[in-house]
Amino acid sequence: MERLRHGREVGRLRNLGVVVNLEGPMGPVWRANSTPGGPGGGCRVMGLGSALPSTRVTNADLEGFLDTSDEWIVSRTGIRERRVAGPEENLLSLAARSARACLAAASVSPQEVDTIICSSSSPDETFPSLACRLQAELGCPLGPAFDIQAACSGAIYGLAMAQSLIQSGMSRRVLVVAAEIFSRLVDWSDRSTAVLFGDGAGAFLVGGPADPGSEILALELGADGRGAAALGTQAVSPDPQSLPGMPDYTSSQRSLGRVVTMNGREVFRFSTRILEQVVARLAQSAGMTTSEITLVVPHQANSRILATAAGRLNYPIERFVSNVERTGNTSSASIPLALAEGAAGGLCHDGDMVCLVAFGAGLTWGGLLLRWGSMGVAVDDPRGPA
Ligand code: ACO
Repeated sequence: MERLRHGREVGRLRNLGVVVNLEGPMGPVWRANSTPGGPGGGCRVMGLGSALPSTRVTNADLEGFLDTSDEWIVSRTGIRERRVAGPEENLLSLAARSARACLAAASVSPQEVDTIICSSSSPDETFPSLACRLQAELGCPLGPAFDIQAACSGAIYGLAMAQSLIQSGMSRRVLVVAAEIFSRLVDWSDRSTAVLFGDGAGAFLVGGPADPGSEILALELGADGRGAAALGTQAVSPDPQSLPGMPDYTSSQRSLGRVVTMNGREVFRFSTRILEQVVARLAQSAGMTTSEITLVVPHQANSRILATAAGRLNYPIERFVSNVERTGNTSSASIPLALAEGAAGGLCHDGDMVCLVAFGAGLTWGGLLLRWGSMGVAVDDPRGPA
């Protein structure tokens, strides 16, 4: 079959000529220091879990139906393979696997979770929320359960909401789950986006200052809606799944009938700038220098973004935790996935300063600084350790 370049009739629309001015002054940024030991402060991440589907799609597999090459994808993005959900999997099943892994690792039962916050940019339903369905699936008590939409920054937004709910006394144990099936949101005939993404889920359990785990020292959330056009979705007709000769994973039902659109260069400029700034501001908020940060776990968009930001921070690239080579960009699931793999592989030690930094559509960003403390971490990967 003919190998595809830009998608079909929607290709022109997808080639967004939008120029977004992201160089203006930073708008108001909400930033908060928890007050360790103070009233309601010093919330702890008690556990972490992640889950991946078993189906692996390599760049060579994509070469079979897209006008692309392993060399182009690796040199521009660092991605060599990604996981895609099988027909029997959905957002709920992936989210539930990561949540169960997290709770088992933290030795906390579902009955002790009073609040569930889920993040997904690739929802399979407008409502009911993924969080409500997950609450029923896990058998958690009937506390609040809701989804948030902050694109790739969703896990950090969720952690910030968890900390606020615990600090206000409304919640005691909050499960924050980010789950994505981008294989049902990309147009597999559009080589400029199809090669970038993958599927997966990650979950954090957040508790109060008296709980064991990693302490939240500082956090920051922000958004710049002037950049909204740089990254989004649009309806497609006819559905790209109708293309003949494509592998099975390309023919799953679209997430809400839409596909990803992106201005790659604008996203690149924004991501590298915000990553550097958030690390510096988090360090400052916690009263330390950037050299005292042990590890950065950035949103796994692509390795060139990470290398550029690491260079600007004068960090050796080893200080950036990355698994993008094997998972692709899993949007809001990418930080818990990368952190879980890194921690399970022995990268994090008690007392380490671990900085999580997300950026994504909106444009949104979020950062969180953890003082690593002993906590359970579990990776549910049917293919075994990397
Ligand atoms: N294989 C082969 N050629 C390709 C592919 C592909 N998969 N995709 C695009 N090309 C071609 C283009 O058609 C173009 O060809 P032309 O010159 O004949 O027109 C050429 O490669 C250059 O295309 P550009 O879009 O200019 O490529 P660029 O060097 O900007 O790299 C990339 C694209 C990798 C997307 C880059 O812009 C980038 O890293 N952006 C960051 C975006 C990102 O990572 N997004 C992830 C989602 S957003 C998020 O998570 C926050």
